[in-house]
Amino acid sequence: MVAEQLYSPGLEGVIAAETRISLLDTEREEIVIRGYNLLDLIRRATYVDVVGLLLDERLPDAQRRAELEAQMVGSAVPSTVYDILAKLPPTMHAMDRLRTAVSALAGFDPEANTADPAAEQAKAPRLIGQIAQIVANLTRIAQGEAPRSFEPGRGFVENFLRTIVARDVTAAEVRAFEQSLIAYSEHEMPNSTFAARVVASTLADVYGALTAAVASLKGPLHGGANEAVMYMLLEAKTADGLEELIRQKLARKERIMGFGHRVYMRRMDPRAALLKETLRELVAAKGSGEEFVAMCQRGEDVMRTEKGLYPNLDYYAAPVYYLLGIPIELYTPIFFAARSAGLLAHIVEQHRDNRLYRPRVLYTGPRGLQL
Ligand code: CMC
Repeated sequence: MVAEQLYSPGLEGVIAAETRISLLDTEREEIVIRGYNLLDLIRRATYVDVVGLLLDERLPDAQRRAELEAQMVGSAVPSTVYDILAKLPPTMHAMDRLRTAVSALAGFDPEANTADPAAEQAKAPRLIGQIAQIVANLTRIAQGEAPRSFEPGRGFVENFLRTIVARDVTAAEVRAFEQSLIAYSEHEMPNSTFAARVVASTLADVYGALTAAVASLKGPLHGGANEAVMYMLLEAKTADGLEELIRQKLARKERIMGFGHRVYMRRMDPRAALLKETLRELVAAKGSGEEFVAMCQRGEDVMRTEKGLYPNLDYYAAPVYYLLGIPIELYTPIFFAARSAGLLAHIVEQHRDNRLYRPRVLYTGPRGLQL
Protein backbone atom coordinates (compact mmCIF):
# COMPACT_ATOMS: atom_id res chain seq x y z
CA MET A 1 0.00 0.00 0.00
CA VAL A 2 1.37 3.48 -0.83
CA ALA A 3 1.99 5.96 1.99
CA GLU A 4 -0.86 8.31 0.92
CA GLN A 5 -3.38 5.50 1.41
CA LEU A 6 -2.10 4.78 4.90
CA TYR A 7 -2.04 8.42 5.97
CA SER A 8 -4.86 9.70 8.19
CA PRO A 9 -4.28 13.25 9.54
CA GLY A 10 -4.59 13.23 13.32
CA LEU A 11 -4.70 9.41 13.03
CA GLU A 12 -8.48 9.74 12.60
CA GLY A 13 -10.10 6.34 12.36
CA VAL A 14 -6.77 4.51 12.78
CA ILE A 15 -6.82 1.43 15.04
CA ALA A 16 -3.73 1.93 17.19
CA ALA A 17 -4.01 -0.93 19.70
CA GLU A 18 -5.86 -4.08 20.61
CA THR A 19 -7.46 -3.60 24.00
CA ARG A 20 -9.71 -5.37 26.47
CA ILE A 21 -10.31 -2.16 28.43
CA SER A 22 -12.89 -0.04 26.61
CA LEU A 23 -14.62 0.86 23.34
CA LEU A 24 -16.66 3.82 22.08
CA ASP A 25 -19.32 2.00 20.08
CA THR A 26 -20.93 4.88 18.18
CA GLU A 27 -23.33 2.62 16.27
CA ARG A 28 -24.89 1.24 19.44
CA GLU A 29 -24.25 4.54 21.24
CA GLU A 30 -22.53 2.72 24.06
CA ILE A 31 -19.27 3.29 25.92
CA VAL A 32 -18.12 -0.21 26.87
CA ILE A 33 -15.84 -0.49 29.90
CA ARG A 34 -14.59 -4.06 30.37
CA GLY A 35 -17.96 -5.34 29.17
CA TYR A 36 -20.16 -2.92 31.12
CA ASN A 37 -21.94 0.16 29.82
CA LEU A 38 -20.23 3.22 31.29
CA LEU A 39 -23.60 4.89 31.88
CA ASP A 40 -24.71 1.94 34.06
CA LEU A 41 -21.47 2.26 36.01
CA ILE A 42 -22.01 6.02 36.49
CA ARG A 43 -25.57 5.41 37.71
CA ARG A 44 -25.03 2.33 39.87
CA ALA A 45 -21.38 1.71 40.73
CA THR A 46 -18.87 3.48 42.93
CA TYR A 47 -15.61 4.97 41.70
CA VAL A 48 -13.70 2.35 43.72
CA ASP A 49 -15.71 -0.39 41.94
CA VAL A 50 -14.66 1.08 38.60
CA VAL A 51 -11.00 1.26 39.68
CA GLY A 52 -11.24 -2.45 40.57
CA LEU A 53 -12.96 -3.22 37.26
CA LEU A 54 -10.33 -1.37 35.25
CA LEU A 55 -7.37 -2.90 37.07
CA ASP A 56 -8.63 -6.45 37.73
CA GLU A 57 -10.92 -6.94 34.71
CA ARG A 58 -13.84 -7.68 37.02
CA LEU A 59 -15.93 -5.77 39.53
CA PRO A 60 -14.46 -6.15 43.01
CA ASP A 61 -16.17 -8.22 45.71
CA ALA A 62 -16.61 -6.66 49.16
CA GLN A 63 -13.16 -7.75 50.34
CA ARG A 64 -11.31 -6.48 47.26
CA ARG A 65 -13.31 -3.22 47.35
CA ALA A 66 -12.27 -2.63 50.96
CA GLU A 67 -8.66 -3.47 50.14
CA LEU A 68 -8.58 -1.08 47.16
CA GLU A 69 -10.19 1.75 49.07
CA ALA A 70 -7.81 1.30 52.01
CA GLN A 71 -4.83 1.48 49.64
CA MET A 72 -6.21 4.54 47.81
CA VAL A 73 -7.07 6.42 51.01
CA GLY A 74 -4.01 5.31 52.98
CA SER A 75 -1.37 6.08 50.37
CA ALA A 76 0.81 8.88 51.71
CA VAL A 77 2.36 11.49 49.42
CA PRO A 78 6.11 11.84 50.14
CA SER A 79 6.64 15.17 51.92
CA THR A 80 9.44 16.05 49.46
CA VAL A 81 6.89 16.01 46.62
CA TYR A 82 4.84 18.59 48.54
CA ASP A 83 8.05 20.56 49.24
CA ILE A 84 8.84 20.62 45.52
CA LEU A 85 5.32 21.85 44.78
CA ALA A 86 5.66 24.58 47.41
CA LYS A 87 8.82 25.85 45.68
CA LEU A 88 7.17 26.23 42.28
CA PRO A 89 5.86 29.67 41.28
CA PRO A 90 2.19 29.82 42.29
CA THR A 91 1.48 31.40 38.92
CA MET A 92 2.50 28.17 37.18
CA HIS A 93 -0.47 26.41 35.58
CA ALA A 94 -1.99 23.77 37.89
CA MET A 95 -1.47 21.05 35.26
CA ASP A 96 2.23 21.97 35.04
CA ARG A 97 2.52 21.71 38.82
CA LEU A 98 0.74 18.36 38.70
CA ARG A 99 3.01 17.15 35.88
CA THR A 100 6.06 17.99 38.00
CA ALA A 101 4.63 16.21 41.06
CA VAL A 102 3.69 13.04 39.14
CA SER A 103 7.20 12.90 37.70
CA ALA A 104 8.74 13.49 41.16
CA LEU A 105 6.78 10.57 42.68
CA ALA A 106 9.18 8.24 40.83
CA GLY A 107 11.97 9.28 43.20
CA PHE A 108 10.19 7.72 46.16
CA ASP A 109 9.34 4.37 44.61
CA PRO A 110 12.22 1.89 44.97
CA GLU A 111 10.65 -0.08 42.11
CA ALA A 112 10.11 2.92 39.85
CA ASN A 113 12.29 1.71 37.00
CA THR A 114 10.30 -1.27 35.86
CA ALA A 115 7.97 -2.11 33.02
CA ASP A 116 6.82 -5.26 34.81
CA PRO A 117 3.02 -5.32 34.47
CA ALA A 118 2.50 -7.28 37.70
CA ALA A 119 4.49 -4.73 39.72
CA GLU A 120 2.62 -1.87 38.01
CA GLN A 121 -0.73 -3.49 38.66
CA ALA A 122 0.19 -3.88 42.35
CA LYS A 123 1.19 -0.24 42.82
CA ALA A 124 -1.72 1.21 40.78
CA PRO A 125 -4.20 1.77 43.69
CA ARG A 126 -1.48 3.53 45.70
CA LEU A 127 -0.65 5.78 42.75
CA ILE A 128 -4.32 6.65 42.17
CA GLY A 129 -4.57 7.66 45.84
CA GLN A 130 -1.35 9.69 45.74
CA ILE A 131 -2.39 11.52 42.57
CA ALA A 132 -5.81 12.39 44.06
CA GLN A 133 -4.17 13.75 47.22
CA ILE A 134 -1.71 15.82 45.19
CA VAL A 135 -4.55 17.23 43.06
CA ALA A 136 -6.64 17.98 46.14
CA ASN A 137 -3.75 19.99 47.62
CA LEU A 138 -2.48 21.85 44.52
CA THR A 139 -4.29 25.13 45.18
CA ARG A 140 -3.70 24.98 48.94
CA ILE A 141 0.06 24.57 48.48
CA ALA A 142 0.21 27.35 45.87
CA GLN A 143 -1.42 29.61 48.47
CA GLY A 144 1.35 28.83 50.94
CA GLU A 145 -0.77 26.56 53.16
CA ALA A 146 0.11 23.12 54.51
CA PRO A 147 -1.24 20.09 52.61
CA ARG A 148 -3.98 17.96 54.15
CA SER A 149 -3.99 14.15 54.17
CA PHE A 150 -6.91 11.84 53.50
CA GLU A 151 -8.60 10.52 56.67
CA PRO A 152 -8.62 6.72 57.07
CA GLY A 153 -12.19 6.56 58.45
CA ARG A 154 -13.76 8.06 55.30
CA GLY A 155 -14.30 6.78 51.77
CA PHE A 156 -12.01 7.73 48.90
CA VAL A 157 -14.45 10.00 47.04
CA GLU A 158 -15.59 11.82 50.17
CA ASN A 159 -11.95 12.32 51.19
CA PHE A 160 -11.05 13.62 47.74
CA LEU A 161 -13.86 16.21 47.70
CA ARG A 162 -13.47 17.23 51.38
CA THR A 163 -9.76 17.76 50.94
CA ILE A 164 -10.36 20.01 47.93
CA VAL A 165 -13.10 22.16 49.44
CA ALA A 166 -11.94 21.99 53.08
CA ARG A 167 -15.40 21.58 54.59
CA ASP A 168 -17.94 18.86 55.37
CA VAL A 169 -19.69 17.69 52.23
CA THR A 170 -23.21 16.31 51.78
CA ALA A 171 -24.06 12.87 50.42
CA ALA A 172 -25.57 14.53 47.32
CA GLU A 173 -22.32 16.42 46.70
CA VAL A 174 -20.21 13.29 47.14
CA ARG A 175 -22.44 11.38 44.72
CA ALA A 176 -22.30 14.13 42.06
CA PHE A 177 -18.51 14.24 42.37
CA GLU A 178 -18.32 10.44 42.23
CA GLN A 179 -20.42 10.35 39.04
CA SER A 180 -18.03 12.81 37.41
CA LEU A 181 -15.03 10.71 38.46
CA ILE A 182 -16.57 7.57 36.95
CA ALA A 183 -17.48 9.50 33.78
CA TYR A 184 -13.85 10.62 33.48
CA SER A 185 -12.29 7.29 34.55
CA GLU A 186 -11.72 5.73 31.11
CA HIS A 187 -12.56 6.54 27.50
CA GLU A 188 -10.74 4.24 25.06
CA MET A 189 -7.92 6.01 23.13
CA PRO A 190 -7.97 9.77 23.67
CA ASN A 191 -4.77 11.71 23.07
CA SER A 192 -3.53 11.38 26.67
CA THR A 193 -4.04 7.59 26.76
CA PHE A 194 -2.30 7.29 23.42
CA ALA A 195 0.55 9.45 24.76
CA ALA A 196 0.86 7.18 27.82
CA ARG A 197 0.86 4.03 25.66
CA VAL A 198 3.41 5.49 23.24
CA VAL A 199 5.79 6.23 26.13
CA ALA A 200 5.06 2.88 27.81
CA SER A 201 5.82 1.08 24.53
CA THR A 202 9.51 2.02 24.87
CA LEU A 203 9.38 -0.02 28.11
CA ALA A 204 9.58 3.23 30.06
CA ASP A 205 7.90 3.07 33.48
CA VAL A 206 4.48 4.25 34.70
CA TYR A 207 5.84 7.58 35.96
CA GLY A 208 7.10 8.56 32.51
CA ALA A 209 3.90 7.37 30.84
CA LEU A 210 1.65 9.19 33.34
CA THR A 211 3.72 12.39 33.10
CA ALA A 212 3.27 12.36 29.32
CA ALA A 213 -0.46 11.91 29.84
CA VAL A 214 -0.66 14.97 32.15
CA ALA A 215 1.13 17.04 29.50
CA SER A 216 -1.33 15.89 26.85
CA LEU A 217 -4.41 16.38 28.99
CA LYS A 218 -3.56 20.01 29.71
CA GLY A 219 -4.36 21.09 26.16
CA PRO A 220 -7.64 23.00 25.62
CA LEU A 221 -8.63 20.63 22.80
CA HIS A 222 -8.55 17.81 25.39
CA GLY A 223 -8.87 17.99 29.19
CA GLY A 224 -8.25 21.73 29.39
CA ALA A 225 -11.71 22.26 27.89
CA ASN A 226 -13.51 21.86 31.24
CA GLU A 227 -11.93 24.91 32.85
CA ALA A 228 -12.31 26.88 29.59
CA VAL A 229 -16.06 26.08 29.66
CA MET A 230 -16.33 27.49 33.17
CA TYR A 231 -14.60 30.75 32.25
CA MET A 232 -17.02 31.05 29.32
CA LEU A 233 -20.07 30.48 31.53
CA LEU A 234 -18.83 33.02 34.10
CA GLU A 235 -18.13 35.59 31.39
CA ALA A 236 -21.61 35.07 29.90
CA LYS A 237 -23.44 35.32 33.28
CA THR A 238 -26.92 34.54 31.84
CA ALA A 239 -28.51 32.34 29.17
CA ASP A 240 -28.94 35.38 26.91
CA GLY A 241 -25.34 36.34 27.60
CA LEU A 242 -24.12 32.88 26.63
CA GLU A 243 -26.11 32.87 23.39
CA GLU A 244 -24.62 36.25 22.51
CA LEU A 245 -21.08 35.17 23.45
CA ILE A 246 -21.30 31.95 21.43
CA ARG A 247 -22.62 33.82 18.39
CA GLN A 248 -19.76 36.34 18.65
CA LYS A 249 -17.18 33.58 18.97
CA LEU A 250 -18.62 31.66 16.02
CA ALA A 251 -18.61 34.85 13.92
CA ARG A 252 -14.89 35.14 14.72
CA LYS A 253 -14.50 31.44 13.74
CA GLU A 254 -13.44 30.52 17.27
CA ARG A 255 -14.02 27.11 18.77
CA ILE A 256 -16.60 26.79 21.50
CA MET A 257 -15.10 24.81 24.34
CA GLY A 258 -17.13 21.83 25.55
CA PHE A 259 -18.58 21.07 22.10
CA GLY A 260 -17.58 18.53 19.51
CA HIS A 261 -15.59 15.34 19.83
CA ARG A 262 -13.42 13.45 17.37
CA VAL A 263 -15.47 10.28 17.78
CA TYR A 264 -18.97 11.65 18.56
CA MET A 265 -18.68 14.77 16.39
CA ARG A 266 -22.30 15.04 15.21
CA ARG A 267 -24.03 13.50 18.20
CA MET A 268 -24.22 13.91 21.96
CA ASP A 269 -21.40 12.48 24.07
CA PRO A 270 -23.38 9.98 26.24
CA ARG A 271 -21.36 11.10 29.27
CA ALA A 272 -22.50 14.69 28.72
CA ALA A 273 -26.15 13.57 28.72
CA LEU A 274 -25.58 11.83 32.04
CA LEU A 275 -23.67 14.69 33.67
CA LYS A 276 -26.51 16.98 32.59
CA GLU A 277 -28.75 14.81 34.82
CA THR A 278 -26.13 15.03 37.57
CA LEU A 279 -26.14 18.83 37.29
CA ARG A 280 -29.94 18.93 37.58
CA GLU A 281 -29.88 16.63 40.63
CA LEU A 282 -27.16 18.68 42.30
CA VAL A 283 -29.03 21.93 41.69
CA ALA A 284 -32.18 20.36 43.20
CA ALA A 285 -30.27 19.10 46.24
CA LYS A 286 -28.51 22.42 46.85
CA GLY A 287 -31.47 24.63 45.97
CA SER A 288 -29.16 26.89 43.94
CA GLY A 289 -27.44 27.00 40.57
CA GLU A 290 -30.60 26.94 38.42
CA GLU A 291 -29.02 29.60 36.19
CA PHE A 292 -26.34 27.13 35.04
CA VAL A 293 -28.99 24.63 33.93
CA ALA A 294 -30.71 27.35 31.86
CA MET A 295 -27.42 28.66 30.47
CA CYS A 296 -26.08 25.27 29.47
CA GLN A 297 -29.36 24.38 27.78
CA ARG A 298 -29.28 27.61 25.79
CA GLY A 299 -25.67 27.02 24.73
CA GLU A 300 -26.60 23.49 23.68
CA ASP A 301 -29.55 24.76 21.59
CA VAL A 302 -27.52 27.47 19.87
CA MET A 303 -24.67 25.09 18.98
CA ARG A 304 -27.04 22.43 17.66
CA THR A 305 -28.86 24.92 15.43
CA GLU A 306 -25.83 26.91 14.31
CA LYS A 307 -23.17 24.22 13.97
CA GLY A 308 -24.89 20.84 14.35
CA LEU A 309 -22.52 20.21 17.28
CA TYR A 310 -23.31 18.64 20.65
CA PRO A 311 -21.77 19.01 24.10
CA ASN A 312 -19.05 16.73 25.39
CA LEU A 313 -18.51 15.67 29.00
CA ASP A 314 -16.44 18.76 29.84
CA TYR A 315 -19.41 21.05 29.13
CA TYR A 316 -21.46 19.62 32.00
CA ALA A 317 -18.61 18.68 34.34
CA ALA A 318 -17.64 22.36 34.61
CA PRO A 319 -20.85 23.69 36.24
CA VAL A 320 -21.06 20.58 38.46
CA TYR A 321 -17.57 21.35 39.81
CA TYR A 322 -18.41 25.03 40.18
CA LEU A 323 -21.48 24.24 42.29
CA LEU A 324 -19.38 21.94 44.44
CA GLY A 325 -17.12 24.92 45.19
CA ILE A 326 -14.05 23.47 43.48
CA PRO A 327 -11.38 25.99 42.36
CA ILE A 328 -11.49 26.26 38.55
CA GLU A 329 -7.77 25.53 38.19
CA LEU A 330 -8.41 22.05 39.62
CA TYR A 331 -10.99 20.94 37.02
CA THR A 332 -8.44 19.48 34.60
CA PRO A 333 -6.24 18.01 37.35
CA ILE A 334 -9.37 16.24 38.70
CA PHE A 335 -10.01 14.86 35.21
CA PHE A 336 -6.45 13.47 35.33
CA ALA A 337 -6.87 12.03 38.83
CA ALA A 338 -10.04 10.23 37.75
CA ARG A 339 -8.43 9.07 34.49
CA SER A 340 -5.32 7.75 36.26
CA ALA A 341 -7.25 4.48 36.80
CA GLY A 342 -7.86 4.04 33.07
CA LEU A 343 -4.34 5.16 32.21
CA LEU A 344 -2.78 2.65 34.58
CA ALA A 345 -4.92 -0.13 33.10
CA HIS A 346 -3.66 0.87 29.63
CA ILE A 347 -0.01 1.03 30.73
CA VAL A 348 -0.28 -2.45 32.31
CA GLU A 349 -1.98 -3.78 29.17
CA GLN A 350 0.71 -2.23 26.94
CA HIS A 351 3.46 -3.85 29.00
CA ARG A 352 1.74 -7.24 29.01
CA ASP A 353 1.91 -7.47 25.25
CA ASN A 354 4.24 -4.75 24.09
CA ARG A 355 5.16 -3.60 20.62
CA LEU A 356 7.06 -0.33 20.20
CA TYR A 357 5.01 2.47 18.59
CA ARG A 358 7.01 3.73 15.65
CA PRO A 359 4.92 5.10 12.77
CA ARG A 360 6.19 6.56 9.46
CA VAL A 361 5.66 9.90 7.70
CA LEU A 362 4.48 11.29 4.40
CA TYR A 363 7.53 13.43 3.55
CA THR A 364 6.65 16.74 1.88
CA GLY A 365 10.04 18.45 2.17
CA PRO A 366 12.68 18.93 -0.50
CA ARG A 367 15.24 16.34 -1.68
CA GLY A 368 18.56 16.37 -3.42
CA LEU A 369 19.81 19.69 -2.03
CA GLN A 370 23.57 20.13 -2.47
CA LEU A 371 25.83 21.29 0.37
N1 CMC B 1 -16.62 24.87 18.08
C1 CMC B 1 -16.78 25.28 16.82
N2 CMC B 1 -16.54 24.51 15.76
C2 CMC B 1 -16.14 23.26 15.99
C3 CMC B 1 -15.95 22.76 17.29
C4 CMC B 1 -16.22 23.61 18.35
N3 CMC B 1 -16.06 23.20 19.59
N4 CMC B 1 -15.55 21.48 17.21
C5 CMC B 1 -15.47 21.19 15.92
N5 CMC B 1 -15.82 22.25 15.18
C6 CMC B 1 -15.90 22.32 13.73
C7 CMC B 1 -14.54 22.66 13.14
O1 CMC B 1 -14.35 24.04 13.00
C8 CMC B 1 -14.63 21.95 11.81
O2 CMC B 1 -15.43 22.74 10.95
P1 CMC B 1 -15.11 22.85 9.39
O3 CMC B 1 -15.21 21.45 8.88
O4 CMC B 1 -16.14 23.78 8.91
O5 CMC B 1 -13.71 23.38 9.35
C9 CMC B 1 -15.41 20.69 12.12
O6 CMC B 1 -16.21 21.01 13.25
C10 CMC B 1 -14.52 19.49 12.42
O7 CMC B 1 -13.56 19.89 13.41
P2 CMC B 1 -12.10 19.26 13.55
O8 CMC B 1 -11.28 20.18 14.37
O9 CMC B 1 -11.57 18.86 12.22
O10 CMC B 1 -12.43 17.95 14.33
P3 CMC B 1 -11.52 17.22 15.39
O11 CMC B 1 -12.00 15.82 15.44
O12 CMC B 1 -10.09 17.42 15.12
O13 CMC B 1 -11.87 18.02 16.73
C11 CMC B 1 -12.19 18.51 18.98
C12 CMC B 1 -12.31 17.45 17.90
C13 CMC B 1 -12.64 17.94 20.31
C14 CMC B 1 -10.72 18.92 19.07
C15 CMC B 1 -13.06 19.73 18.59
O14 CMC B 1 -14.42 19.36 18.54
C16 CMC B 1 -12.89 20.91 19.54
O15 CMC B 1 -11.95 21.70 19.36
N6 CMC B 1 -13.76 21.04 20.58
C17 CMC B 1 -13.59 22.07 21.59
C18 CMC B 1 -12.63 21.61 22.67
C19 CMC B 1 -13.24 20.57 23.58
O16 CMC B 1 -14.35 20.71 24.04
N7 CMC B 1 -12.46 19.50 23.86
C20 CMC B 1 -12.89 18.42 24.77
C21 CMC B 1 -13.10 17.16 24.00
S1 CMC B 1 -14.02 15.91 24.91
C22 CMC B 1 -13.21 15.58 26.37
C23 CMC B 1 -11.78 15.26 26.20
O17 CMC B 1 -11.41 14.32 25.50
O18 CMC B 1 -10.98 15.95 26.80
